[in-house]
Amino acid sequence: MNRRTFVPTAAAAAALANAAPKLAIDGGTPVRSATLRAGFWGSEFYDDKERAELNDVLDAKAPFRWYGPKPPMKVLQFEKEFAARMQTRFALGVTSGTAALQCAMAALEIGPGDEVILPAWTWHSCFNTVVLAGGLPVIAEIDESFNIDAGDIEKRITPRTKAILAVHLQGNPCNLERVLAIAKQHKLRVIEDCAQSVGAAYKGKPVGSHGDIGIYSLQLNKTITAGEGGAVVTNDPVLFERASRFHDLGGFRSQHEQQIGKGKLDWFIGTNFRMNEFTGGVLLAQTRKLDRIIGSVRDNAQRVYLGVRDLPGAKFRKLYDPAGELGTGVFLEFPTKAKCERFLSAMKAENVPAGRPGGSVILPTQPHIMAKRTLSAQWPAFQTPHGKAMRYGPESCPRTIDILSRFGGVLMDPKYTRRETDDIIAAIRKVYPAVMGS
Ligand SMILES: Cc1ncc(COP(=O)(O)O)c(C=O)c1O
Repeated sequence: MNRRTFVPTAAAAAALANAAPKLAIDGGTPVRSATLRAGFWGSEFYDDKERAELNDVLDAKAPFRWYGPKPPMKVLQFEKEFAARMQTRFALGVTSGTAALQCAMAALEIGPGDEVILPAWTWHSCFNTVVLAGGLPVIAEIDESFNIDAGDIEKRITPRTKAILAVHLQGNPCNLERVLAIAKQHKLRVIEDCAQSVGAAYKGKPVGSHGDIGIYSLQLNKTITAGEGGAVVTNDPVLFERASRFHDLGGFRSQHEQQIGKGKLDWFIGTNFRMNEFTGGVLLAQTRKLDRIIGSVRDNAQRVYLGVRDLPGAKFRKLYDPAGELGTGVFLEFPTKAKCERFLSAMKAENVPAGRPGGSVILPTQPHIMAKRTLSAQWPAFQTPHGKAMRYGPESCPRTIDILSRFGGVLMDPKYTRRETDDIIAAIRKVYPAVMGS
């Protein structure tokens, strides 16, 4: 910049500063008079379609998935349509995302002595299901996508590593290309946890269809929902059979056997995670609405991105596939935790609440995880020499803690009106420069 350009630019900056509206937190007028709140996506779309599915089950008096006074169909039909939507050969409906993860662990025969690498920031279910299988959870850091840092995975691989739990958090696919390459090189299995990203895609293909096996949660906070519910997908008939057997006490029902031809496995000890027909009916109706829900959220997120991306210095959450992410939230990075906190407080005062990344926990900092507390002191997960030597705690994930302390964002909703997305844009445009300049 030379002197000729500097003088007017400096004057313009001073004028802009004077023109900057007073933040609500400092006594100015808030962008909105009422607080904006993101809702629960799937259930916002409930209508006569879900009602009709539920009435079918009531009228048939057939709420159990395998048999009844009339042939039950809802869970089976949901599985067929969900598999087609996720571009996999098989889908298994289960009672929750946690149950789906347990089925995935069982399908891959994860057990005592096996290690599974997972991100430090994710939901309890990820850690718990490895432990419940008898395996040892090994923690990797996250990157600025809030997902597992592929660069950190390789450092955690040992001869005992069996699988990588590639979790796609808050609608955003992780760095799958690297994860899959590492898994291939080291002959590891990949479980994709798509609980928080139902319907997202990576390089044009739905998440869940890239690894060996994928799982989804269909609980209230997820893209589509029946209150509770989960699904497992895979292209591998043996993994499907083992997951199906595990979810139904070890047996294999004819409705599933028909899908793979003759089963290859024998009975083994399983549990009961069977989905009921009411849940199956609601999820069938919701699956048919999935693209509409996603389309609306993505449009809203896109509007916000376009409305704020020119803010000088603005850095956003890393997206490995911007076209495939759901747009669950628009997150900005701050140089310090203090600036991020100021942004969150100031946005709240504008009645457009922003928050830190959410819906997960920093696993290694949870007291019961640091204490390796299991139901029985003899539980195998932590009884091996490596299990005994394993140390969790904040010192195992400093980068994760730092990243999560410096990102703040606004959550999206498929039903936000244009006015509401305009308010989000206006609030960010008002608050972000003030916080960064302070
Ligand atoms: C990443 C992740 N995995 C698994 C689950 C478990 O799903 P559910 O609550 O349906 O058991 C969740 C739930 O929020 C989750 O966020």
